This record gives sequence, C-alpha cells and structure tokens, in this order.
Amino acid sequence: MNVVVGITGGIAAYKAVNVVRGLVLAGHDVHVVATDAALRFVGRPTLEAISRNPVHSELYEGVAEVRHVAIGQAAELIVVAPATANTIAKLAHGLADDLLGNTVLASSAPLVLAPAMHTEMWQNPATVANVAALRSRGVHIVGPETGQLTGTDAGPGRMAEPGEIIAEALRAVRPRDLEARRVLVTAGGTREPLDPVRFIGNRSSGKQGVAVARAAAARGADVTLIVANLDDGVMDGLGSAVKVLHVSTTRELQEATLLAAGTAELIVMAAAVADYRPETVASDKIKKETQGDTLELRLVKNPDILHELTDARHDDQVIVGFAAETEPDRDALLTLGAAKAARKGVDYLVVNRVGWTETFGSDENSVMVLDARGHIVAEADGSKASVAERILDVVR
Ligand code: C5P
Repeated sequence: MNVVVGITGGIAAYKAVNVVRGLVLAGHDVHVVATDAALRFVGRPTLEAISRNPVHSELYEGVAEVRHVAIGQAAELIVVAPATANTIAKLAHGLADDLLGNTVLASSAPLVLAPAMHTEMWQNPATVANVAALRSRGVHIVGPETGQLTGTDAGPGRMAEPGEIIAEALRAVRPRDLEARRVLVTAGGTREPLDPVRFIGNRSSGKQGVAVARAAAARGADVTLIVANLDDGVMDGLGSAVKVLHVSTTRELQEATLLAAGTAELIVMAAAVADYRPETVASDKIKKETQGDTLELRLVKNPDILHELTDARHDDQVIVGFAAETEPDRDALLTLGAAKAARKGVDYLVVNRVGWTETFGSDENSVMVLDARGHIVAEADGSKASVAERILDVVR
C-alpha cells in the first residue's frame, strides 16, 4: 500500500522514525512528507534510509511532475505523526501553504493524525474545536497519551506509541466487512460482593474484549459492549459508535447480556465471569472483632451465561466464548479447550493462557481460536488490537 507519513515539527518527530520503520517492515511503500520544522528535529538521511524513498518537504520542488498534488493523489493512507497544534489547525481549515497541506488536501485517502503537544495546547479551546472539526469529517485521531512531556511537565499531550499509531492507521483502511452487523461483546471481570466494601473478583482488565468491540465498530458493526469493572483508561477513545452498558456482578451481566442477545448476530463473550458468589451478602462491613481467627465463606454457583446463550441461540447467531487457562502444556490446553467448546455449545472458543504475570492487564495476547469441534482455525499473537482483528476475521 502507498502510505504517506507526514512529519511535523515536534520533539516526537524522533518517534515518527519508528512509525515509518514499522510500516516499511509491514510491507508498505512509505513516502515521507516532512515540514521544514520536522527536519530540524530529525535528519533527512535517517528518514530516507528508513523509508527507502526520497523525503519530500519543498512545495516548489518537482513542479514539473505536479508533486504538490501527485503525492496525495497516489496515497492510499496518510498518517501525520506527530501532528502539532499548528498542523492540526491548518488541516482543520484546509490550508495548503506547505507540501503536507497540499498533499492532504489533494487526497481522498483515510487520514490518521497522532497529536503531540503540551497539555495546555491540547486543551486549548482552539485545538479542541479543530480536533472536533477533523473528527466530524472522519479523520482518525490516535492519542495523545497522558504521560511525561518534553519538559518537566506531564499530562495529556504525549504522542501515542508508534505501534499504536500503525495499528490505528491500518484499521482506518480496513474493509468495512461487518457493516451494520449487530455485535454484542462482554468485557472485564465480574465482582461478587461480600459486604458493602469487599468483593470476590478476578484480574481481567477488559482490554481484549474492548479491543474486539473497537475493531468490530471500525469494521462497520453496530456494537453493544457490556463492561464489568474495567481497568482505568481501557475504553479511552472508544467513540460513540459503541453502545456501552455497565454492570458489576455476574447476575447483572447475565440480565444485560440475555436482554441484548435477542437481536445480536454475533456474540463475543470475553468477560471473565465469577463462577461462584457468596451465598449471603452482609449488609454491614464484616468485622474481625466478631469473627475470630477464621472466617468461613460459603459460595453458591453462578449461572453460566454463555451456556444460557447457546441454549437460547437463534438461527444465524454466532456465539464465541473465551477460555483462560493456566495449563502450560499446549496439547493439554487444546484438549481442555476442545472439551469446553463442546460443553458450552459455542461456535468458536478463543483459548489463551493466563498466569500470575501473563495476559491479564497486558497489552499483548497470544490465542488459539477453536471451532465447535475443537479444531484450531486460527492462532494470533501480538497486541490485543491485532488479536481482536484476527478473531473477527475468523468468526464474523
Ligand atoms: O467455564 P469457563 O469460565 O472457563 O468459561 C469461560 C467462558 O464462559 C467465557 O466466555 C465466559 O465469558 C463464559 N462464562 C459465562 N458464565 C459463567 C462462567 C463463564 O458466561 N458463569
């Protein structure tokens, strides 16, 4: 794919080198259009060596080949990283006083911007309005992240990491192969209260389920996402394309899921559901002074929501379960997965290994997708966003 990477004048320009590199390594033909300011931060030879193409920055060069529009016309995707407040303002107003402005104006390709600036500039009403205008025209904005900025300050404004920018950019050009398909996704982990302040829960962050919802929406699906106790920030930038419902306990998840499942064509049950809950919930905080040295909890089994979904499934409904297992041996993991796929009556089961340090809360995942008979139909390894795409490729 012909990809134009626009680089503008911010310190984060040094990180743009890795955006270029990642796109080249993924097999794309990358053309860098840098502003003059960008070339003060990162050298032309670096960008030419990494992109394997000449770097363009001058509006009045290559006039005979009408370069000011030719680059944009040929582009299948334009990524601007970093996008400074100044460039965002210019793009929002359609200005074309440099080669990058001309390139963007002359292109109908998806446009992805990775803003990078100090917090005050990002939160300035002028920038807020410019970003809103760009978004309303379908421009994809990735980041910025909150973190350490160039000076001693910290806050929102740090450019998203190159891997995230590339993933978002490739998502922007992906086919809308789930257009109007009704997709229901559950994510996070349920919590079962013991008393007003305590619960039994699990370490699911919700990242994988939210990534599935995000990917399905980007592919055109009509997505309902039911979330239970997500980690902070997991839904950042999800946008209004996804309808989000919040629950906490298994029975709340059950009620919301069964209700939403009626009209869903594809259900992805990524939530980690508590199998048991306390038989009684104390109305006041349980006190050690009244309990002594031991405290006995009696748990009762929760409903198996996935099972209820497959029991009630209607024609043309595809139901996908998840299985998180601590089993280290791949064959044993597969055997467990196959048995679970059959027991739960799912069309697909996404099997992954979890442990004290693996998967939960991580941005990476490694999964096997099994069909109803327990056969591997796909394997995926990488960011949770890329794993989500692979899952959808198979189960859609
Ligand atoms: O049996 P196990 O908990 O490993 O099954 C995992 C799959 O079943 C996940 O898709 C999870 O969302 C779902 N599940 C459920 N209700 C339960 C337990 C698990 O829907 N009570």
